[in-house]
Amino acid sequence: MRQPLVAGNWKMNGSKAFVAELLMGIKASSGGIQATELAVCAPFPYLYLLEELLAGTPIRYGAQDVAFENDGAFTGQVSVKMLKDFGCHYVIIGHSERRQFNAETDAMIARKYAQAIANELTPILCVGESLTERQQGQTEAIVARHLDAVIELNGVDALAKGVIAYEPVWAIGTGLTATPEQAQEVHAFLRTRIAAHSQPVASQVRILYGGSMKSNNALELIMQPDIDGGLIGGASLKADEFLAICQAGD
Ligand code: G3P
Repeated sequence: MRQPLVAGNWKMNGSKAFVAELLMGIKASSGGIQATELAVCAPFPYLYLLEELLAGTPIRYGAQDVAFENDGAFTGQVSVKMLKDFGCHYVIIGHSERRQFNAETDAMIARKYAQAIANELTPILCVGESLTERQQGQTEAIVARHLDAVIELNGVDALAKGVIAYEPVWAIGTGLTATPEQAQEVHAFLRTRIAAHSQPVASQVRILYGGSMKSNNALELIMQPDIDGGLIGGASLKADEFLAICQAGD
């Protein structure tokens, strides 16, 4: 049985005061969460606050990106060792917004994945199709391409050291959530594709859903056999909403 995981992706939101208040709210009510693992992924500047405010709690945290090199002339980037300095456990990799706005390629993402696992961070690998790609029947081809790039560089066993998040781009921030059936279909496709390489890894790897998951739809999604939790954007910025989603995973 895979432990459910609900991770918040705060994206480029917040302030020191906002983050402190949000974390206090999450900490105050997370005691009722028994089985589900909680995590939050913050913009780099707030990692210090997370290290301080989450010390001694079971809530894990991480970043939303990482450089694909150890160190060097990469202005503006943050290395995996810097994330380790701040006690990060997770790092989101290949988010569709970084593929779109930062021109991240499958090859770059596969290298970032390698960096994360080589330094004992847990990567959350994002895969997902656009609305046009779905309408053209390309969904499986797109998520297979995203997945295969990581397997080809790192080997299938590397997937056991990470988490996958299926995030249909057309559901992100739109309020247009994939139906449980749509999400389960892609999750099952991903798990079957991994099983073609390794059944143990396919059984072990957690596959989260992301894309307008809210407290009022989380349960019907997480109840699906191949959905192991959620990667939450907007709803992770409200402590009560985020915790209600975590409760659904419990
Ligand atoms: O990484 C999770 C995020 O892309 C989902 O965003 O606002 O649709 O929950 P949202």
